Amino acid sequence: MRRGLLGQFLTPSPVASLMASFFKADWNEVRLLDAGAGAGALTAALVDRLCSAEKKPSRIAVDAYELDPILIAKLRRSLGNCRKQCESVGISFKANIFNRDFISNMLPLVRNDLLSNQSGAYNLAIVNPPYRKIHADSAERRLLRSVGIETSNLYSGFVALITKVLVQGGELVAITPRSFCNGPYFKPFRVAFLESMSLCRLHIFESRSAAFSRDDVLQENVICHAVKGEAQPGKVVISTSSGAPDSPIVERLAQFEDVVAPNDPERFIHLVTDRVQKLARTAMRLHTNRLEALGLSVSTGRVVDFRARGFLRDNPEDGTAPLIYPCHFNGGTVHWPKKESRKPNAIKIDDQTRGLLVPAGVYVLVKRFTAKEERRRIVACVFDPNLVPSDLVGFENHLNYFHLSGHGMPMELAEGLAAFLNSTMVDVYFRQFSGHTQVNATDLRALGFPSKDALIHLGREIKDRGMPQNTLDAFVEQGLI
Ligand SMILES: C[S@@+](CC[C@H](N)C(=O)[O-])C[C@H]1O[C@@H](n2cnc3c(N)ncnc32)[C@H](O)[C@@H]1O
Repeated sequence: MRRGLLGQFLTPSPVASLMASFFKADWNEVRLLDAGAGAGALTAALVDRLCSAEKKPSRIAVDAYELDPILIAKLRRSLGNCRKQCESVGISFKANIFNRDFISNMLPLVRNDLLSNQSGAYNLAIVNPPYRKIHADSAERRLLRSVGIETSNLYSGFVALITKVLVQGGELVAITPRSFCNGPYFKPFRVAFLESMSLCRLHIFESRSAAFSRDDVLQENVICHAVKGEAQPGKVVISTSSGAPDSPIVERLAQFEDVVAPNDPERFIHLVTDRVQKLARTAMRLHTNRLEALGLSVSTGRVVDFRARGFLRDNPEDGTAPLIYPCHFNGGTVHWPKKESRKPNAIKIDDQTRGLLVPAGVYVLVKRFTAKEERRRIVACVFDPNLVPSDLVGFENHLNYFHLSGHGMPMELAEGLAAFLNSTMVDVYFRQFSGHTQVNATDLRALGFPSKDALIHLGREIKDRGMPQNTLDAFVEQGLI
């Protein structure tokens, strides 16, 4: 409960040390902010790093905010140890512990900053912010909005506030879920963050859970190092490690425009981690057509089954239309009806359901959710009306469907589009900016596509929808690159 409400996932010490190592930290006087300090692991790691640095600061002052009274005694002990460690190497150390809400306590400082245009208070900030959705009418959301921050998660709210109280040149190292890199709801956060902060480094853990092995962390995490007020660098360090203690770190330099594409209105942050991914990205760069340029759109299936419960039928009968779920996907096409399925196969056609159905035609369907074990994130298939005869059809909400102004598209275009979406090239590219297993219509809209002619040409080559991945990749590479 506490963990859920307060977003308490304490940082293991190897991860804290890794974060501390990312700072340039060449300030003589350090003013450090630790927001949501927990038991003080992050400050302790940074103090440890600064105490053993060749060029040590002369003074460290820490403001640590922690809402949970239960953690305060531990935090006090930990900061007490920091003081001893600092004093043993001649660094003066001062810590303020605030057992208060970070957000409301930061507002006066931020407002002052906004009014007087003065620089902020801290030159370093290290944070593993609490992670929890904040609803549009919640107190946190209102407080954040009052200083111009529009965001739907506590973690991005914390980070956005921190960026406002850093001095010019101040450094931030934050570990957060990677959903901010491409989540549609994080767009205002990304835009503001990339406007005020220069992205120096992104570190990705290859395993979902290794870094936080003691906790049940489902989201992939990313550590971000950024500096306030500087222009974006030419290159960003992208590093990865498995997340296990002492695991080797692989580092590479990526062009900033490979990480955040110039002119991308979404400001997606692409985590280009290795050569294969770089190749995939280069290949995708060749495909720059927006979906609209192909005359196509992608939408989320309109039948939300639990809302249409009274109209669902296990099996087709008179006056019903086929209802398609991901369970009907098989070998690149739709197999319907699926008698042994627990899902209904049909929906009654009625004045109340007609608006949820689409006219018969050829569509490309993409699963919105894939199991973690599934090889690809994007799983597409062709909906062929010859195999599912009916005048109307329902696509359930766990699917996205590509269409031509609400209608089907030519078969060859659909075959080419499905092959392209199912290719390893698209999958690798997609994973660079998506840390979760969900594939939203917004994500699909953000992809670059080959031209319509190229897709039709590819579609003509595809004779077998269920071909093995390597064969499909070879077709796509030959046809499109
Ligand atoms: C993800 S934990 C990280 C703790 C610690 N920094 C670490 O890395 O181990 C986030 C911490 O923020 C605290 N917290 C949650 N909401 C807060 C708020 N509004 N103000 C201050 N602290 C808060 C939680 O109690 C929790 O200890």
